[in-house]
Amino acid sequence: MSSQDIPEENLPAEQSAGHNDHGHGAVGVADEKNPFADPGLPPHEHRIQDIDERAARRSERTVAMMFVLSMLATVGFIVSYVAIPHDRTIYVFPIGHINALNFALGLTLGAALFLIGAGAVHWARTLMSDEELADERHPIEAEPEVKAKVMADFKQGAKESALGRRKLIRNTMFGALALFPLSGVMLLRDLGPLPGTKLRHTLWSKGKLLVNMNTNEPLRASDVAVGSLTFAKPEGLEEHDHEFQTEIAKAALMIVRIQPDDIKDKRELEWSHEGIVAYSKICTHVGCPISLYEQQTHHVLCPCHQSTFDLSDGARVIFGPAGHALPQLRIGVNDEGYLEALGDFDEPVGPAFWERG
Ligand code: FES
Repeated sequence: MSSQDIPEENLPAEQSAGHNDHGHGAVGVADEKNPFADPGLPPHEHRIQDIDERAARRSERTVAMMFVLSMLATVGFIVSYVAIPHDRTIYVFPIGHINALNFALGLTLGAALFLIGAGAVHWARTLMSDEELADERHPIEAEPEVKAKVMADFKQGAKESALGRRKLIRNTMFGALALFPLSGVMLLRDLGPLPGTKLRHTLWSKGKLLVNMNTNEPLRASDVAVGSLTFAKPEGLEEHDHEFQTEIAKAALMIVRIQPDDIKDKRELEWSHEGIVAYSKICTHVGCPISLYEQQTHHVLCPCHQSTFDLSDGARVIFGPAGHALPQLRIGVNDEGYLEALGDFDEPVGPAFWERG
């Protein structure tokens, strides 16, 4: 119902009296100074609650009901906190099994806050004052006298400094000002050398042996059992090396053996040796080392933000914030049965950077 459809006697006093309050319907006129005419405000439409006391009562009851439900949710929060054992789990579709206490606390607290907010919004939209106000903008341009004074002061200052006459001073001053920023540019060198292709390459190269990080011994294919998780580094990288931390942060590997029939990704199978696969240990989210392996599902889990990767399916992300799969290292065995790399990773390891877009 619009205010046009409402009987005159039901309208609020100021409108029924024909007052054109707050500029509703008033339009401006374009002139030379203001080329765009003020379109004015559209006619004010009264809400049903402004003209029908029963509707206003209904809104009042709705708002009050939300606040009462919020109170009940708060009581539910307190009761849940006291009554639900912290180790009880429940099944909630479609999330699955979750901790009952956390679920109840989250639900009741969320409901209590939501209902307070929803009640306040409904109150404001239906019952609080519906007055529309227009705040006129003031021109921000300076008055002509102020502009003239600024220009006069500027010219006076230029004249007093004799900048036009003392050309030597003027030119050397401009030179000094132009050169000065160069010192800031030089300081940029302190940020270190440019990374070049360092971020794209690791110590892995064709023929480099995979060394067990725990025993410091080269790994044989026969050392890797189904279901085990082994961490490896490139042969020749020792802990006392100056660049050890930098290099291991890119080259660390996870080695697992999966039944070849269980490997779903064709390229993964080709890059493995008899089901032994080597993946970067560095999470592709923000670079934490991955350390948890679930042998039944072949999932690995990053402890930092719970990104989960499926090692039987190209290490694709199946949960969490990581943006892409873990890079795989192509491996084989040499004549003596030791596992070796067949090249470097074919993509940057770790978190995304600009080349990946
Ligand atoms: S660093 Fe692995 S999930 Fe964030």
